[in-house]
Amino acid sequence: MAKRFLLALATVLLFPPALAQPDTARPPSARELGARFEEVKQDRKAAEALFKTGRKVAAVCAHCHGEGGNSLKPDIPNLAGQNPSYLLEQLRQFAEGRRRNEFMEGMIKAMNSDEKIGMVLFYAAQQVTPLPPPNAALAARGREYYDKVCFRCHGSDGRGNEQMARIAGQQPDYLRTTLRRYRAGNGVRVNPLMASNTRLMTDADIEAVVGLCCTNGGAVG
Ligand code: HEC
Ligand code: HEC
Repeated sequence: MAKRFLLALATVLLFPPALAQPDTARPPSARELGARFEEVKQDRKAAEALFKTGRKVAAVCAHCHGEGGNSLKPDIPNLAGQNPSYLLEQLRQFAEGRRRNEFMEGMIKAMNSDEKIGMVLFYAAQQVTPLPPPNAALAARGREYYDKVCFRCHGSDGRGNEQMARIAGQQPDYLRTTLRRYRAGNGVRVNPLMASNTRLMTDADIEAVVGLCCTNGGAVG
């Protein structure tokens, strides 16, 4: 597994993604992946085995997403503490081209179902490293906005739930870009709930919410 994986990474890093050699195996359908995930959740032994697989997979991802999924780059998302079903859904979106990022689309093609499930189990169990404390005034504005709109789905602490994305402690540049993409509706990230919840946001609202969410020390954390 590790060898095939490193090969995929090297291929993608050395050649433009369009030329990368995807795994020749048919990618698992969303239904197959979901069914396998349910099966693993009921089976402690299988979950433990896949957790170890996930740790190996994560060693490759660490080049960008950081050790244990705590990214050191503000424009690359943390995967640490992220919720498993949300992560699996993003993998499906990359695989199906519904979420656009050439590198990630190539990377996902090199993973089988068990590697995907192991990876999400591993990351969900990692602690998020707190980022530096927020600018208090900005975070207070962010809190006001967050408590009116975002808490309904992402929870008042920003941790989401099994299905819903965690946004507490997420990298600031990534959060800003992501919110702008949902708002722009340009097809890079498409989600009707996030489109309607960002439509009325001004740039200043986005900055304030990012100032709150990217910190792990504030009330969202
Ligand atoms: C070369 C850098 C790089 C490597 C290596 C990499 N990623 Fe990523 N990944 C990214 C970037 C950049 C994004 C953000 C894409 C976007 O939304 O524009 C991302 C996004 C993601 C997301 C979506 C996260 C979210 O919060 O929605 C998941 C899941 C993910 N990567 C999983 C992985 C896994 C699993 C691996 C290892 C097998 C991996 N990545 C390796 C760069 C990388
Ligand atoms: C009605 C429910 C709902 C509300 C309200 C909502 N969201 Fe979301 N949010 C979602 C869903 C569903 C997703 C996953 C979308 C996808 O798959 O791209 C998401 C995804 C996100 C992501 C991407 C996470 C990642 O790791 O890439 C961010 C950031 C985010 N929301 C921030 C916010 C903020 C900030 C607000 C308030 C302005 C907000 N959301 C309000 C449902 C909601």
